[in-house]
Amino acid sequence: MAEKKFITDREQLEKLAPMLKAPIKRQVFVCTGKSCAAVGGNEVMAEFARILEEKGIRQGKEAKGRNPMGSCVLTECGSMGFCSIGTAVMVYPDGTMYGQVTPEDVPEIIEKHLENGEVVERLALINLPND
Ligand code: FES
Repeated sequence: MAEKKFITDREQLEKLAPMLKAPIKRQVFVCTGKSCAAVGGNEVMAEFARILEEKGIRQGKEAKGRNPMGSCVLTECGSMGFCSIGTAVMVYPDGTMYGQVTPEDVPEIIEKHLENGEVVERLALINLPND
């Protein structure tokens, strides 16, 4: 295996990963693991994608309908451990884990939490400490 070079030059890093230049405020993980998918995880993911792209705040490649300078990263992920009460959604850096999320809940999570920093308490299971 070829030896991997550790890159330290910031300009080179940003060229390789343009997202490093974006003013990212939050990252949302949506679980589409087996149990969450069975209760609508893919639909929840699709609704986050649709609305964040419509609002122009989903960070990503323009060719994919996203905004290179968007403030929110949306990431599909596998199980995060509360499979029986999905769909599971996690918001960083706040450390908020939401459960039983449906596509109908997504506009509220986006407007209250992602855009205004206010946790949607009725769906929040845990707020991880930030220390
Ligand atoms: S499958 Fe989603 S939390 Fe386990």
